[in-house]
Amino acid sequence: MTDKSQPATGLHKGLTNYGDAAFSLFLRKAFIKAAGYSDDALTRPIVGITNTASDYNPCHGNVPDLIESVKRGVLLAGALPMVFPTISIAESFAHPTSMFLRNLLAMDTEEMIRAQPMDAAVLIGGCDKNLPAQVMAAVSANLPAIVLPTGPMLTGHYKGEVLGACTDCRRFWAQHRAGQIDVAETELISGRLCPTIGTCSSMGTASTMALLVEALGLALPMSASAPAVSADRRRIAEATGKRAAEIALAARPTPTDLITPESVRNAMIILQAIGGSTNGLIHLTAIAQRAGVPFSLAAFDKLSREVPVLLNLKPSGAHYMEHLHHAGGLPALLRELNPLLDTSAPTISGFTLAEIIAEAEEVPHQDVIHTLTSPLKKRVPWPSFTATSRPHPPSSNTPPPRPTSSATPAAP
Ligand code: FES
Repeated sequence: MTDKSQPATGLHKGLTNYGDAAFSLFLRKAFIKAAGYSDDALTRPIVGITNTASDYNPCHGNVPDLIESVKRGVLLAGALPMVFPTISIAESFAHPTSMFLRNLLAMDTEEMIRAQPMDAAVLIGGCDKNLPAQVMAAVSANLPAIVLPTGPMLTGHYKGEVLGACTDCRRFWAQHRAGQIDVAETELISGRLCPTIGTCSSMGTASTMALLVEALGLALPMSASAPAVSADRRRIAEATGKRAAEIALAARPTPTDLITPESVRNAMIILQAIGGSTNGLIHLTAIAQRAGVPFSLAAFDKLSREVPVLLNLKPSGAHYMEHLHHAGGLPALLRELNPLLDTSAPTISGFTLAEIIAEAEEVPHQDVIHTLTSPLKKRVPWPSFTATSRPHPPSSNTPPPRPTSSATPAAP
């Protein structure tokens, strides 16, 4: 018997409109029983799990495995996992550009979360546009949701050098264009740059967004950095499934409980400290504004002069995402940035950032996460910056002065 004073949950949610709610539920059960579900299973809270696996998307090549691990976690916690497909966007397979498709994935994911009965959603994605799109969707649907990045690929090796996509892709191609590497060698290198499935291993957009999502509190600790093919990644997936079942039962937190002015400011600080992708700013703006959090470019600009780069990852530094994982991941970086952050921010794990920092691993002699007193790249003090550059765009429509004939010509 349904208690009409309580919000509908599980299979009772969002009934198809046949004009008779009891008939809609009867019909829904009749059809899903075709898949062999028992009445016991069909009374459980439902955790929807996105499936973004695609043969076109090796960055999501582990999604089938991750789904199995998430389902195990959901079942261990007594809920019912239901996997559903959405589109999947792979950077190098999207014509003319993946950015045209980000909002389509956001709409697809949001509408499927809204249209199908689920009490919480697990969003599995990784390649550049997928995580921001999925978070945008979850914010708009505002159902309890937890993100599981697919994780970075391992590094490759070539002639004794450690390689990773995609900073090194561009470096080698520049050498090819300069005539230093022939076509045969480019083919050899293309087989070494991406040695496993997973997202790009340097600080590109995928790594940036995975770290921002973890910093915003939308994913479990260490979920940004665990390599795609590691046992850690699968354990995090199982833990994500368990946590998804818990938030399904509790009906909270929702993404807008976690995306606040404080957590967005924390994410802005992380974006600076990791030397993150410029695309991170575009996506963080969209996520914040969907959550109703004003996003100030002036505040971001100010932070960019106050927060030094601490993370020694390519292209700013020397290492790759797997090395960040072995150095303690985002929690260890948060510990170094502690004085700058609002560590009272809650996270989907049930712990605050302060509690996550307290558990962060200490890794002696590591060179991946620098400190505020010994950063990888120092902050740029405002006065010295203004001495060489204009800090703000002009406030009027006055065009910039034209170069005179005596001005130094631009480099070709
Ligand atoms: Fe998918 Fe870089 S191409 S993460």
